[in-house]
Amino acid sequence: MSATPGTSITLCPHGPLLVRGDFELLDAMGLTVDPRRGTVALCRCGGSLIKPFCDGTHKLLEFQAPDPTAARAPNIDDHPRSPT
Ligand code: FES
Repeated sequence: MSATPGTSITLCPHGPLLVRGDFELLDAMGLTVDPRRGTVALCRCGGSLIKPFCDGTHKLLEFQAPDPTAARAPNIDDHPRSPT
């Protein structure tokens, strides 16, 4: 039996990030953004007119997300400013 995480983030193929569970959404100033629901779709194409939320524009833009299997996931330890 596996544990259910409190929060999950799902990368939709060529679409938004779906965030489910318990989370707090903050803007660039650190102010709380009301997600209005328990699951939100966050834009990752950059085209939404209601950022940070997805408005479906990724379909019009024919957004192509990088293939997650094409390269290994970035490792924080490889970052040049990572503490050693
Ligand atoms: S991911 Fe949907 S509008 Fe950007």
